Amino acid sequence: MCGIVGYIGEKQAAPILVEGLRKLEYRGYDSAGIAISGENVTVVKEKGRIDNLQAEIDKVYPVGTIGIGHTRWATHGIPDHINAHPHTSMNGIVTLVHNGIIENYIEIKNELKEKGYVFKSETDTEVIAQLFDNLFNGNPVETMINVASRVEGSYAVAMIVKGFSDRVFTMKKDNPMIIGKGNGENFIASDIPAILPYTKDCYIVKDNDFVELTKDGITVYGLDGKEKEIEINSISMSVDAAQKNGYDYFMEKEIYEQPKAFRDTVSPLIKDGRIVLPFEFPQGFTKKLNRIHIVACGSAYHVGMTAKYIIEDMARIPVIVDIASEFRYRNPILNENDLCIFVSQSGETADTLASLRESKARGAFTMSIVNVLYSTIARESNGVIYTNAGAEIAVATTKALMAQLGVCYVLAAFLAHEKGLMGDDILHQFTDEILAIPEKIERTLTTDDITKEISGYIKDRHSMFFIGRGIDYPLCLEGSLKLKEISYIHSEGYGAGELKHGTISLIENGTAVVAIATDDALLNKMISNIKEVRARGAFVIAVVKEGTKGIHEVADKVIYVPSASRYLMPSITVVPLQLLAYHTTVLKGFDVDKPRNLAKSVTVE
Ligand code: AGP
Repeated sequence: MCGIVGYIGEKQAAPILVEGLRKLEYRGYDSAGIAISGENVTVVKEKGRIDNLQAEIDKVYPVGTIGIGHTRWATHGIPDHINAHPHTSMNGIVTLVHNGIIENYIEIKNELKEKGYVFKSETDTEVIAQLFDNLFNGNPVETMINVASRVEGSYAVAMIVKGFSDRVFTMKKDNPMIIGKGNGENFIASDIPAILPYTKDCYIVKDNDFVELTKDGITVYGLDGKEKEIEINSISMSVDAAQKNGYDYFMEKEIYEQPKAFRDTVSPLIKDGRIVLPFEFPQGFTKKLNRIHIVACGSAYHVGMTAKYIIEDMARIPVIVDIASEFRYRNPILNENDLCIFVSQSGETADTLASLRESKARGAFTMSIVNVLYSTIARESNGVIYTNAGAEIAVATTKALMAQLGVCYVLAAFLAHEKGLMGDDILHQFTDEILAIPEKIERTLTTDDITKEISGYIKDRHSMFFIGRGIDYPLCLEGSLKLKEISYIHSEGYGAGELKHGTISLIENGTAVVAIATDDALLNKMISNIKEVRARGAFVIAVVKEGTKGIHEVADKVIYVPSASRYLMPSITVVPLQLLAYHTTVLKGFDVDKPRNLAKSVTVE
């Protein structure tokens, strides 16, 4: 939801902080600020994008080799200069930045007001600063622990404390924070891309860690105030992942990285026609497995819906798919024979994380499909399969979703084989088909031209429909979400068979409808549905497999995609939907990578 950076070393901090914030701008971009430590802390902050902040920094040239920075996605308080981070406490004891939500901030704020504290902003973050100020006993670590015992909710906080101008302090709970270990310098970041240019050695801050940073040291304390041993991890991600490398937008680059993302994800899971998962299920678990829950948000939820069709058909295990914000509050029925799968690119989505914890508390075996190494969801699952898609910077997910689909295909085959429903030969054949998908994705990228042409027909529409049946149906939801979230054109994904139960009343002359019809068994039904909407004036864009007959007569535009096993078609079909959203947004002149109101990782409820 927000991006935090910090630097402590011997170089001027301001440019390093700004560069780090630019790498994290996808996490939130409605205001930004930095604080540079010294005799007096210098705070520079501004509404809007990082460029606005840089313009302010150019006016004051804050000198210093220690600092913190923040780029904001507003939760409490409008995006303006006053609510921008960093926030300094009334007595100047602490200046801090925060990612997360303090749920009991009003109660604490009122208590502090009665003690004479005057608040400048509407943020929950300022409450942390004033509380720290009020509880400060001369020991920043003890004070952080006391603050943590009072606040409820989620937070990742970096702070500069008066009288300790040669160090930076951090604490976190339920929001990501990474320490980059340098040589005579250390870095703080919400996500890996901000520290990659400087170091690959990092410490993943854990919940209820209280960290004291100097330029030469990383000291971590626990809730008991005692120093903890820390493990330094090496980041395998390349710096390249956080660069556009000649593309206009990260989204475009990431669409074109999908063949590699898919290949790098599934290849380690397939050895000589057999499936090798990176973790073990409990002994006999898969034999007894009689129910699977897949829980996720947004596009990841659409992956779960797709997986349902495949796993149920191949492995004959019932699959219940939930959006995480509903699952966590619906008192789900779970037991030790349940498998709960959490799909998340960031591995930090608050609702998905909470659902994971709820499932573990109810005894279910939990596994996750995650793209960010060492992320909270990955660390807290009983088993994790990483999607090796590399850093995904665009807010609209593409290559991570593609990689997640790859894991679902492998998992479905693994479970079918475990259940004795798929013999070794068929398994080998299916895994070969999975391994052949990257080449088909590559070929599907050539639909770039026709999707660019079609985007000219839809860019001025106010509303659109995506309709499909069977395994194409979840892709209708995904295609609709992609279009909505970056082009701001309202659209709906709909089961084609459901349209006539009410919504077809919205179809009128010129309504654009994307009809996805890749399942041979359902093609005739889809052709009927296309005729129904066409008869009411719709402009129909059909997405079908190469060689599909009888579609040109019923659709205005046809996008042909390579053919594959129907279980694997989603990895092909999703590509033109991504390109359509991308090109439409470019034509509309909007920021493809940083759409309004959104952030890459939703780490608050
Ligand atoms: C997809 O384009 C969106 N950015 C959003 O729906 C995203 O998929 C969702 O917020 C889940 O994020 P996660 O995969 O990091 O958990």
